[in-house]
Formats: sequence, C-alpha cells, structure tokens
Amino acid sequence: MKNKKILVTGGAGFIGSHLVRLFVNKYPNYQIVNLDKLTYAGNLANLRDIENKPNYQFIKGDIVDAAFINELFAEHKFDGVIHLAAESHVDRSISNPLEFVMTNVIGTVNLLNAAKAIWIPYPSGKDAEAPRFYHVSTDEVYGSLGETGMFTETTAYDPHSPYSASKASSDHFVRAYHDTYGLDAVISNCSNNYGSFHFPEKLIPLSIYNIKNNKPIPIYGKGENIRDWLWVEDHARAIDVIYHNAKAGTTYNIGGHNEWTNIDLIRLLCKIMDKKLNRNEGESAKLINYVKDRAGHDLRYAIDSTKLQNELGWTPSLQFEEGLEKTVDWYLTNEEWLNNVTSGDYKKYYEIQYSKR
Ligand code: NAD
Ligand code: DAU
Repeated sequence: MKNKKILVTGGAGFIGSHLVRLFVNKYPNYQIVNLDKLTYAGNLANLRDIENKPNYQFIKGDIVDAAFINELFAEHKFDGVIHLAAESHVDRSISNPLEFVMTNVIGTVNLLNAAKAIWIPYPSGKDAEAPRFYHVSTDEVYGSLGETGMFTETTAYDPHSPYSASKASSDHFVRAYHDTYGLDAVISNCSNNYGSFHFPEKLIPLSIYNIKNNKPIPIYGKGENIRDWLWVEDHARAIDVIYHNAKAGTTYNIGGHNEWTNIDLIRLLCKIMDKKLNRNEGESAKLINYVKDRAGHDLRYAIDSTKLQNELGWTPSLQFEEGLEKTVDWYLTNEEWLNNVTSGDYKKYYEIQYSKR
C-alpha cells in the first residue's frame, strides 16, 4: 500500500469513529486526518484508544465553512476523502430541516469544490492514481418499501424526511461532480447500523439506556415499521473494501439481510437485558410504551447488497442476535461513556483538549 493522506469527515461520530479506528490500525502508512465539528453527536472519547497514534490527527472544523475547507485542502493536499460528516437523526430533521440542508447539502458541495480545486485535472500517466472522493450515504434515499421487494443500486430515489431529502441531494451532487468534472467519486448507501458508540437518541442505544434505568421505551406508532440492521464494524469493513476496490463513479448498497419490526427487535432486546440485569423474564418488556408515530415514518427498508458481495466479496460477519448481545455488553460495561453522553459531560473533555484547531 502506498503512503496516503486521507481526510475522514465526521470521524468523531458513531460510524466515523469505527472507520477511523479501522484505518488507523490497519494502514499504519496512511495519515488519517479526522475533521469534525464536534456537534452534540461528535465525541472524542469514541477515539481515545487511537488518539495518540502517530498516523492520526484530529482537526476541529465545520464543513459548512467554505473558506476554512478550501484552506484545509490547499494545506494538506489530501490523497482521498471519506465523507461521513452529517446531521443524521430523522427526528431532529423534522424539527430543524435547515440545519440538515446546511451540513448535508452545502457541506458536501463545499468538500466537492475543495477536492475539485486541488485534484482536477488529474495528473496523467500510467502510474497516476486518482485521489478518490467517497461519499457515505443511506438507504433512506430510496424511500419506503411495501411488504415485498428490496432496494438495489438502481432503485429510483424517493426520500420522505428532510434528513433523507438532504442525503439524496448530496448523493446527486457527488454524481454530478463525477459526471461533469471527472471527479473520482464513489457512493455507498447503507442500512441501519448498530453497535458501540451509538448516540442514545437512536432506537437501540436509547432503549438500552431506558431499560437499564427503568424508564419507558418509546415505540412509535404500532412498532410495525421494519429496519434492516447491520453491525457497524461490518459497515466500516465494507467502506474499506469499496474505497480501495470500486471503479470510479460506482455505487454500492450495504446491508445485512436482517429485517426486524421495531417491536420484535425491542422484545429481543428486553429479553437480553433481563438476562444481563438478572431480572425476571418479561420485566423489561413492561417498559414498552407506544407513543405518537413519527411524521412521514417510512414503513420498511431492506437492502439488496448482492452487487457488493459478488463484485468485491464483502459479507456481514455477525448474526444479529450475537451482535445485539455484544452491543448490550458494551453499553453495560461502558456505563461511564453512556452516562457522560446522556448528561452532556463529554463536551467538557473536548473543550479542554481542543478549544481551537
Ligand atoms: P453521527 O450523527 O453519529 O455522526 C456525525 C458526525 O458528523 C459527528 O461526529 C458530528 O460532530 C459530525 N458533524 C456534523 N456536522 C458537521 C459539520 N458541519 N462539520 C463537520 N462535522 C460535522 O452519524 P453516523 O450515524 O455516524 O452517520 C455517519 C454517516 O453515515 C452520515 O453521513 C449518515 O448519513 C450515514 N449513515 C448512517 C447510518 C446509521 O445507521 N447511523 C446508516 C447509513 C448511512
Ligand atoms: O437506514 C439508515 C438510517 O438509519 C440512517 O441513515 C440514519 O442516520 C439513522 O439514524 C437511522 O435512521 P432511523 O430513523 O431508521 O433510525 P432510528 O434509530 O431513529 O429509528 C429506528 C426505527 O425505530 C424507526 O422506525 C423509528 C423507530 N423509533 C425510533 C426512536 C428513536 C421508535 O420507535 N422509537 C424511538 O424512540
């Protein structure tokens, strides 16, 4: 592997921190620069185990700030970008859509412009390896399925929430920069992730926290919506495989063939939690609390990742039951992380460490 300087955006978030850890450990000859604004979702405690490695650098900054992004690219001359920074929570997008437009759309276009300015035209010659712009996206851009069918890479976009509309828009811009300017760009659209360092506003970590603290578990509507869950470390491995092997201009779907209704998932989680907390079977499930449905709530997501499996040989490594139990174990043994995140204490850590770039 050649030496490379790779910019990862959003590396202090849930998926980004797993990706940064994988790349820093697996590719000691790569310099990994993690650019993150450290919003409520960004947490440097997610990266404590690798923060002192010589091939890792953290920079605090906002992808919406075009002048800052242009300067950063001019200074670092990155060999590649893996772009994960985003506002990622659907419920927040319903209350504040503009923030999603700013970060997810404008922020992405700022990065594309900065990459184009330093990379295009690419140096010619047989050995020249084009710097790559990898955009990490979601299955939510495809909209909602009925009882049958799966999303493939050719499914038409049909986003319903402000979050998925902003991600769809950013995907379109990435493709447009490939088609118009010849930027070497790839996109992946992944299903719901779960695992360690997941911010407890999302269904699984929120429910673990609430069960542990004997608080109600809010289930939207009748709990019949279906999501397709993937172990976050399998997503990071897929990004690695795609980043290094995909042809420019391609898209891959990433998913675990692992569909659960929300209520079945929560019942399974309650069972695991009863066992781990030495509660009588059925005790945690008494916390299930049906609440008002999410506006525009997509019924079902299901990803067909055949293309990725056949072309690049990636497959998920974990069965869901095993992954969910591992996830519960992680949250129960990392109580400090969970308590800090829910109390907001973790902000103090990075305010002291990184007040300015
Ligand atoms: P997250 O909310 O946990 O992390 C997002 C990170 O981006 C945070 O560290 C945050 O501080 C940073 N960030 C936000 N705005 C920024 C800005 N303006 N400038 C710089 N940094 C900023 O999100 P996640 O769940 O890790 O998702 C990462 C990416 O993967 C997103 O693009 C999301 O759309 C996509 N995705 C997520 C899932 C999932 O299940 N979580 C599934 C498919 C795709
Ligand atoms: O599909 C990929 C997407 O998965 C990512 O692009 C998003 O960034 C990520 O947040 C996730 O979106 P969801 O909306 O599917 O995830 P969330 O955990 O918010 O909700 C999962 C399901 O559980 C969904 O049907 C809504 C429901 N839900 C969620 C919460 C937070 C509840 O019933 N109760 C809750 O309290």
